[in-house]
Amino acid sequence: MKDLSDLEQFDVGFDIPAKPGMDEADIQTPCLVLDLDALERNIKVMGDYARAHGMRHRVHGKMHKSVDVAKLQERLGGAVGVCCQKVSEAEVFARGGIKDVLVSNQVRDPAKIDRLARLPQLGARIIVCVDDVENVAELSAAAVRHGTGLDIFIEIDCGAGRCGVTSTPAVVEIAKAVERAPNLTFAGIQAYQGAMQHIDSYDARKDKLDAAIAMVEDAVAGLKADGIDCALVSGGGTGSYYFESNSGVYNELQCGSYAFMDADYGRILDKDGKRIDQGEWLNAFFILTQVMSHAKADKAIVDAGLKAQSVDSGLPVIFGRDDVEYIKCSDEHGVIADPQGVLKVGDKLRLVPGHCDPTANVHDWYVGVRSGKVECVWPVSARGKAY
Ligand SMILES: Cc1ncc(COP(=O)(O)O)c(C=O)c1O
Repeated sequence: MKDLSDLEQFDVGFDIPAKPGMDEADIQTPCLVLDLDALERNIKVMGDYARAHGMRHRVHGKMHKSVDVAKLQERLGGAVGVCCQKVSEAEVFARGGIKDVLVSNQVRDPAKIDRLARLPQLGARIIVCVDDVENVAELSAAAVRHGTGLDIFIEIDCGAGRCGVTSTPAVVEIAKAVERAPNLTFAGIQAYQGAMQHIDSYDARKDKLDAAIAMVEDAVAGLKADGIDCALVSGGGTGSYYFESNSGVYNELQCGSYAFMDADYGRILDKDGKRIDQGEWLNAFFILTQVMSHAKADKAIVDAGLKAQSVDSGLPVIFGRDDVEYIKCSDEHGVIADPQGVLKVGDKLRLVPGHCDPTANVHDWYVGVRSGKVECVWPVSARGKAY
């Protein structure tokens, strides 16, 4: 079995798309490419913003699923840790040395609860979301069994329509149960409004977040009235972080996509009506693809199709080109409209995927490039970790 720590033993084009030191032109396609200058810039900008607004930033690691990117976010952006959605992802991050990991989701399956309760043995603080009193007892019993401690966020459904309680009395009831439960600590509130992040209009997003903030304020006041201190209020994404940061009640952000940017997110508008991929964030994440056929004069066929990306949020956009357009894909083929016949076999194109999270999840490696050279090759560490 090949050891991931030594890239030398991997064959380029068979089990790895590139090696550090190679020219960008020699990268095997299709593969994920990170523009390291753009990535580092995005990470620093969000880190500076969070710091200037007195916010902790717990980056959403389920977006990139990469221990290396998470560590870059800690080093350059002051990230306090990660969130992820699955116990199997949390295991990857904790084993990779991330010391503060939130599973921003409910864990109810007994085998998964058991695995979660073991994780603090790796030296990481583990937080999990709860929206049901019965889950408190399940988590407590597992933590006692393993001699560990788990921190608990109570999740409020503040508009996403997914998990989470919808009333302050429910929050208080669960918090009291957590405070009574052995080996559990009440650490705060999870309140991520996921349904508004991709709404184009800034004002429409603000309206949704105002409603979320009102719910959270009520919950924090309800806890306080019962003598329960709420240390952390966590939430916020790339389409909303400025609302949570200026709310006076949230103190932790969970942004994910800002670091990479994708075509669907890029089109939402900032408060001045400008697309967020035209200044606020840079595209740092691409699928590198190559023309493999141009048998028809007005169409080029590239090697990145459905298996190289997720198209749930739309087709990819060809970066930096408006003369050619990615118009359709099947499993291993992408069809590019090339009305002027400007492309030729072997040409490489950078695609900005429609949706970064599920696209990262179908690749093994990130190839980090700077100034035309491959600088690093990082595993997509939690790729396929869906349990
Ligand atoms: C719970 C939670 N927090 C934060 C985020 C990050 O959002 P974004 O990628 O929009 O920054 C997500 C994304 O889906 C999420 O599910």
